[in-house]
Amino acid sequence: MSPAELPDALMSALSEHVAAQIGLRLPPDRWPELWHAVSEAIGDADAEANTVRWLAAPFSRAQIETLARHLAVGETYFFREPDTFLALEHHALARLIAARRAAGLRRLHVWSAGCCTGEEAYSLAILLERLIPDSADWDITLLGTDIHPDFLARAEQGVYGDWSFRGVPDEIRARHFDAVEPGMLAVRPELKRRVRFGHFNLAEDTDPGWRMDLIVCRNVLMYFDPQAAVKALARLHRCLADDGWLALGAAETPLAPSAGFTRHATHEAILYRKQPIPPATPHEAARAPQPMPRPEAAVSPPDASARLAERARAHADEGRLIEAARCLRAAIAIDKANPRLHYLHSLVLEEAMRLDDARAALRRALYFVPQFVLGHVGLGRLCERQGERVRAAAHFAKALVLLEQQPAGALLPESDGMSAAQLSAALAARLQEA
Ligand SMILES: C[S@@+](CC[C@H](N)C(=O)[O-])C[C@H]1O[C@@H](n2cnc3c(N)ncnc32)[C@H](O)[C@@H]1O
Repeated sequence: MSPAELPDALMSALSEHVAAQIGLRLPPDRWPELWHAVSEAIGDADAEANTVRWLAAPFSRAQIETLARHLAVGETYFFREPDTFLALEHHALARLIAARRAAGLRRLHVWSAGCCTGEEAYSLAILLERLIPDSADWDITLLGTDIHPDFLARAEQGVYGDWSFRGVPDEIRARHFDAVEPGMLAVRPELKRRVRFGHFNLAEDTDPGWRMDLIVCRNVLMYFDPQAAVKALARLHRCLADDGWLALGAAETPLAPSAGFTRHATHEAILYRKQPIPPATPHEAARAPQPMPRPEAAVSPPDASARLAERARAHADEGRLIEAARCLRAAIAIDKANPRLHYLHSLVLEEAMRLDDARAALRRALYFVPQFVLGHVGLGRLCERQGERVRAAAHFAKALVLLEQQPAGALLPESDGMSAAQLSAALAARLQEA
C-alpha cells in the first residue's frame, strides 16, 4: 500500500496526528514509512477509505508501540558522547551529591528518558557507583524509559554485543560485565538491579508526578516535531526537582530561555539546570479557578495546584513538613478531586507521625478515584503500622486486583518510577508474609 493516492492534506494531517501522540516528526519524504507504520498499527484492511476515521481517535497503547517499532530511531551505546558524562560527573552530579550530603538526604533520582536498549541508563549506573562509594546507604532511583517495547525488552535483558562498547575502556567491561557467549557481554546482576526500565511516552499529556534530580534525554527530542518537543520539555521541567539538571544530546538545538532552564556551558558539554519557580502566593492560590471534580486520575491538575504540589515536595524533601502540608492544603483547595494531592498530603502527614490524618487523606483520595492504586497501598501500609493486619491485607489485595488491569510495564504515578509488575510482585510477597 502507498500514500500516493491519498491527498497531501490527508497525509499531512496523519503526520500531525502521529506527532501529537508519539512526538516524532514525519516530513513528506517519510510519508511512505508513516503510511506503512499507521496501516500496520491500525491493521485495517480498508486503510485508505478509513484514514479520516483514524484521525478522529487517539491511538491505543498497542498501536503506539507498533508505530514506535516502525518509526523510532534506535542508535545508542555505552558512554555515548563521553564529554556529557564528564560534565555530568564534574558539574551536575558533583553538585547534586554534595547538596544531598550537606542536607543529610542520601537520595538521588536519575532518569534516562528515551533510553533505547539501556546502554545510557547502565552507563549512568556505572558513573553513580563510582561517584557514591557509600551508595548502599543511599536511596537511588535509576529509571530508563522508552516507547519502543523491543528496545525495553533488550534493556531488561542487559546483554550487549561489541558494537555497544565502542570506545569503552576494558576496565569498565571487566568490572561490570560477564562474557555470556562469544562477542556478547551481560550486565552483572548487582548493576542490573540498580536500574528499572519501563514504558513512558514523552509525548503523552499526563504528568507522572516525579521529582527527578537529573534527567538525561539525549538524541530523542531532536526527532520530535517542534510543538511536541516544547510540550515534552515542559513536562520534563515539571518532573525535575527544584535544583534538578537536564542533559540533552550534544547535537541538539540549545534551549531557549523560555524553556525555564539555566544554561551551564562547562568545558565538556552544555547542561541545563531548572530555574527556580517563583513562590505561589496565597493570592495566586485563591485566584485560581475552581474546576469541577473529575473522576480520572490521569488528567493534569491546573497549573496553580501543580506549582503548589511541586513546592510541597521541595519543602518535604528538606524536612519542612508544616510548610509542605500548608502548600498541599492550598493545592487541594484548588483541585480537590485530584487523588495525587491527597496522596502526597498523606505522605507528609505520615512523616509527621499523624497517622490517623494520613489515613483520612488517603480515604479522600479513594473517594474521588476508587481505583487509585497507591491510595490502597498507602492505606495498607498505614493499617499495618497501626497493627490492623487484616485491613492492611484487604487494601493490598485490592491494589493487586487493580494492578492486574494495567500493563505490566506501566509506570505508576507518584511511585518514583515503579512499574505495575514491580509493585504487584512486592505486594504479593507482602501478602504471603502476612
Ligand atoms: C536515538 S535513541 C537515543 C538513545 C539514547 N538516549 C542515546 O542518546 O544514546 C532515541 C530513542 O527515543 C525513543 N523515543 C522516540 N519517541 C519517543 C517517545 N515519544 N517517548 C519515549 N521515547 C521515545 C526511541 O524509541 C529511541 O529509543
